[in-house]
Amino acid sequence: MREVKIGIIGLGTVGSGVAEAITENGKLISERSGVELVIKSVCDTDRKALSGAVCPSGAAKTSRAEDLTSDEDIDIIVELIGGIEPAKEIIMESLNNGKHIVTANKALLSECWKEIFTLAKDKGLFVNFEASVGGGIPVVRTLRESFVSNNIGTIYGILNGTTNFILTMMEERGLTFSEALKIAQQEGIAESDPELDISGADSAHKLVILSILGFGQEVYPADIYTEGISNIAPEDIVNAKKWGYSIKLLAIAKDTETGLELRVHPTLISSSHLLSDVRGVDNAIFIRGDMIGDSLLFGKGAGKEPTASSVVSDIVEIARQVALAGKENPIPCTLDYASGSKNISKIDEMLLPFYLRFSVTDKPGVLAGISSILSEHGISIASVSQEERNEGGEVPVVILTYKAKEGSMREAIAKIDALDYVTDKTVVIRIEE
Ligand code: HSE
Repeated sequence: MREVKIGIIGLGTVGSGVAEAITENGKLISERSGVELVIKSVCDTDRKALSGAVCPSGAAKTSRAEDLTSDEDIDIIVELIGGIEPAKEIIMESLNNGKHIVTANKALLSECWKEIFTLAKDKGLFVNFEASVGGGIPVVRTLRESFVSNNIGTIYGILNGTTNFILTMMEERGLTFSEALKIAQQEGIAESDPELDISGADSAHKLVILSILGFGQEVYPADIYTEGISNIAPEDIVNAKKWGYSIKLLAIAKDTETGLELRVHPTLISSSHLLSDVRGVDNAIFIRGDMIGDSLLFGKGAGKEPTASSVVSDIVEIARQVALAGKENPIPCTLDYASGSKNISKIDEMLLPFYLRFSVTDKPGVLAGISSILSEHGISIASVSQEERNEGGEVPVVILTYKAKEGSMREAIAKIDALDYVTDKTVVIRIEE
């Protein structure tokens, strides 16, 4: 059986999981794939991670990435450091040295896709990245292969387990955002610096990758309108529930007549939508194609074993090609997706329904004042609710609107927030229909 040699750089949660999976399930993998994966070397700058790594006795352990990227014996470099540098340098160096790449690095791919794939194509090498989106869910392969004949119209979903866990805790236990975040940190779900997750940036990186795959379009994180979950209050979750909605951090990509709509933000979705039942750290991705119709992928979006499972599947895919083709005649990489030229819509131009929570003084004429500003901006009200009575004091008023232009909504809310009977900033959450 053809041996394919691997070097793993980065022995954190996922990297150590990959080394363990190949070491412990090697027989199963080779029986199923017809290739034998051999871990030639592993690398980490952390001595503890390096010495603790579970790998075959023959594997070299080093703290120097160049020992792997320059090793002529290694066919595939598995980069699991994360972040832009030194991961980018390691990947470019490895490609220049004729090595295929497997990575889970969404931050790097979303920022430097073109550079990496231009070099990979030029060198006839693979860069596989299944674990970069949705952890153990095979969404990359599904879009690349299973749905290859489809024009993709919509991709949206829950792409971040940490924020979904926090929102689930808030909903199930009535906690504030900070209380739920604390639990997520105590349970080792949220990082000690959770900013990347809670700001929506991690979801945006993943949406860049799905959009490139789905729409064949060059997309960057800066193209994605991104809003995190830190301003969501328990009362918004309670209100949403009363109206038949859940609040989820959705990553949304739609190919519309006016261009690509790309956005990440807290969203009200109907409680009867399948995504509203995706709880805790789970992820789910809804894809609509012109041939498949609607499809939903669900599973573990993070964690050692699920993510390592995706990384190993990428390694096996390349290893089979290496075994078939031989090093001198590799199968050329054809991941040249980003050739489309669609317009990317500006958030202000998008037409969306909204949930609005106003904090106002409870007195006559308040609702009339708010609704007249909304109407001046062409915003039509679908429902109104004021459940508390506090004459002369502060009360919340909740309004759901029909579709309105985001830019008009912003202008209207700025005017409403300046009214003397509006006591706090209005909460605005978009609705997905
Ligand atoms: N931190 C991410 C999440 C997993 O919470 O889903 C890695 O992308």
